[in-house]
Amino acid sequence: MFILGMESSCDETSAAVVEMENGVRQIRSNIVASQIETHRLYGGVVPEIASRAHIEAVSGIVYEALDTAGIGVKDLGAVAVTAFPGLIGALLVGVNFAKSLAYSRKLPLVAVNHIHGHVAAAYLSNPDLEPPFLALVVSGGHTSIYRVESYTDFMEIGGTRDDAAGEAFDKIGRVIGLPYPGGAALDKLAYEGDARAIAFPSPALGKETLDLSFSGIKTSALNYLNGMAQKGEEINRADVAASYTYQIVRAITQKAEAALVQTGMKTLVLAGGVAANTHLRASLEKMCARNRVALAMPERALCGDNGAMIAAAGYFEYLRGNFADTSLNASANDDGL
Ligand code: KG4
Ligand code: ZN
Repeated sequence: MFILGMESSCDETSAAVVEMENGVRQIRSNIVASQIETHRLYGGVVPEIASRAHIEAVSGIVYEALDTAGIGVKDLGAVAVTAFPGLIGALLVGVNFAKSLAYSRKLPLVAVNHIHGHVAAAYLSNPDLEPPFLALVVSGGHTSIYRVESYTDFMEIGGTRDDAAGEAFDKIGRVIGLPYPGGAALDKLAYEGDARAIAFPSPALGKETLDLSFSGIKTSALNYLNGMAQKGEEINRADVAASYTYQIVRAITQKAEAALVQTGMKTLVLAGGVAANTHLRASLEKMCARNRVALAMPERALCGDNGAMIAAAGYFEYLRGNFADTSLNASANDDGL
């Protein structure tokens, strides 16, 4: 069946057509309109501007997704939309469009948890992947470890107690003058620096927990940068990028490894925007090989927010019979509706 997947939780308006069937997981189209250029001016996502940009883009993006897939609305089997978590105004644009489309064309409507969507991107890139597995979701808004028992049942067993890893990358990227959002640029710059040059604190909390905290390393990096500026000393940006990335990647890898040992899971799925980070991918590959654990990652193009991942997650909600109706609302929170 063809599923339309819609995503508008943050600063990307996206729609995709994905064909899902027993043994078939095929992306027919995946159109992503990024608002990055608009928000770059402010150094971060401005919620009100994001909502307005979604409104302007949403209709065109949905029809472009259908055109690119070579199908019409009548060929769809269901409409899936991100309903939580995210920016409430931004989410409501996608939710209201999806509700209207589904109601007017009498199509089944499915509400999708954005985090489940990120994990479902791995199903598209790894056709044989199936639960149970451990999922590590690392994005601009989340850093969490889940036991994924089935396509629709997730249990959070660890994660950040404050900022997300993506937020921590973006913040320091911005302060050292990298283009917004700093994550991808910091990833590249880190190759040119010395990872041992600056001793930043580890974001990994004690051995008794699978939790992390990124506020300490963020403050420590800011203090370092301010201190250097006050002394009039020049900053080696590549060393900052390398040392900062090293600690973040090491801490996430340590907690993922501890979670694998604790749960006995034999497959790890890495998902979310920060899953595009090449240092993190390499570190997890090594750790998984050492533990004889299979590592499944979405291809880099499917790591960021996109409609295809929402369609894939929506398919499994559809199979469970988890349908929404015109009373569907959006929610900013993780715990949903
Ligand atoms: O999943 P996503 O598109 O949006 C959220 O749901 O948050 O993730 C966006 C985050 C941003 O913080 C961005 O800087 C980060 O993913 N990111 C990266 C890389 N590419 C994107 N962080 C580190 N290294 C990268 N290569
Ligand atoms: Zn996301």
